[in-house]
Amino acid sequence: SPTVAVIIVAAGSGIRLGHAEPKAFVLLHMRPLLDHVLDSIFGMRSPVQIIVVAPSERVADARAIAAAAAARHESPAAALTIVAGGRTRQDSVDLGVAALLPGVDVVLVHDAARALTPASLCDAVVDAVRSTGHGIIPGLPVVDTIKRVAASGAILGTVDRSELSAVQTPQGFPRAMLAAARAWAVQNGRFEALTDDAALVADAGHPVSVIAGDALAFKITTPEDLDRADLILHAAAT
Ligand code: CTP
Ligand code: MG
Repeated sequence: SPTVAVIIVAAGSGIRLGHAEPKAFVLLHMRPLLDHVLDSIFGMRSPVQIIVVAPSERVADARAIAAAAAARHESPAAALTIVAGGRTRQDSVDLGVAALLPGVDVVLVHDAARALTPASLCDAVVDAVRSTGHGIIPGLPVVDTIKRVAASGAILGTVDRSELSAVQTPQGFPRAMLAAARAWAVQNGRFEALTDDAALVADAGHPVSVIAGDALAFKITTPEDLDRADLILHAAAT
């Protein structure tokens, strides 16, 4: 049985994308975003438990998409779990964590919205969790000059770019570390303030390190992002 699990959080509604469908079901090159992200997870080096956290009214659809992807990749259906998500991303992560199999010791949390993430980035996160024992998040250097600006518009200063990283998913953790950090956040009322998994784990005092991210792991948030994903796939196909 697999020792790595990937929780794909796909339960958001995609308000900023502005489609009638929840974002994970929006089509990109005629396939739902969820189907693209499943391809990258099934493309990982070794078999993993896949937990898809879907909008509660779309669990059956998510199951059908995931079962078809598993069949395409000749993967055992046993390691595939579909659960209903919650109101916030953190609620959805929690509902995913509750479905982890007993033998799993490394957990990746991944946004379905990062539909073009290469499998190699997921493998690199697993490797780094295992070699360091830390929480691991992929990040890219920030290329723009960043200013701190007052409400009035006055420039307060330039932020040192060398200290900044634009972080992505999958974010990976030793299972025990993630569980302890989530329990700590619940006990200390920290859940609302900490929106990403790495922030929650670091807040509980655990080490989290950044490894090189991948430009293809960008998050599809707006219609322009979906256009960009479409162009990338189009270019790859010609
Ligand atoms: N997500 C989730 N459950 C929620 C909210 C978000 O599983 N209650 C997931 C989304 O499906 C997405 C990831 O978290 O894969 C990142 O969230 P975001 O890009 O903000 O997606 P949405 O919340 O769907 O988009 P929006 O904020 O524009 O509504
Ligand atoms: Mg959101």
